[in-house]
Amino acid sequence: MKVTYHGHSVLSVVLEDGTRLLFDPFISENPVADIKAEDVETDYILVTHGHSDHVGDMIEIAKKNEATIISIVEICQYAEKKQVQKTHGLNIGGVFDFPFGRVKLTHAQHSSGYEENGEMIYMGEPAGILLQAEGKTIYHAGDTADFSDLALLGEDYQIDLAFLPIGDNFTMGPKEAARAAKRLKPKQAIPIHYNTFELIQQDPTDFTRELPGVGRIMEIGETIEV
Ligand code: NI
Ligand code: MN
Repeated sequence: MKVTYHGHSVLSVVLEDGTRLLFDPFISENPVADIKAEDVETDYILVTHGHSDHVGDMIEIAKKNEATIISIVEICQYAEKKQVQKTHGLNIGGVFDFPFGRVKLTHAQHSSGYEENGEMIYMGEPAGILLQAEGKTIYHAGDTADFSDLALLGEDYQIDLAFLPIGDNFTMGPKEAARAAKRLKPKQAIPIHYNTFELIQQDPTDFTRELPGVGRIMEIGETIEV
């Protein structure tokens, strides 16, 4: 599979059979995104939690592409109310085997609400997403803080790529994210959710320096094949 980083927490994955997945499609309001929301073509949209910098263009992209949204049940219900046709709701700890592979929603220590017309909409619990396809395992941590049970994921899964937020303020900072990576024991750990806004400016080498041979910075627009 090919995994491309589009800035902030946005990832796209293309599988050998051509199936396209998009994680946390915050694109049109994302000052560092290398793609345009209206140009995106995808089959599935996976969303970690309900904050606007993760939900992003979920509704518009889902409708235009007739894509399936995979997320926690409350986010799927929100999408259905917005006339998205295809959703698949999961909850924390649950897995489902899709035609392209297996998706598990994992714990994340964070919050999840979506502000719309001055009201805060409950979007369920925040999550991480574990994707298993073509014999590879990818973990998108969402906006989690570091917590000790991440070690259980490291015990249960051989993670090839772990995408961890390092921006601080809203999530882990680089040092805590490096500690989380040590709990998860992935083959490669990639920092995300930094340098998008003033509040989350970070030097990603503060993360990779703690993880020799494992930490890897992806440039925006860069693709890794695993
Ligand atoms: Ni968030
Ligand atoms: Mn965020």
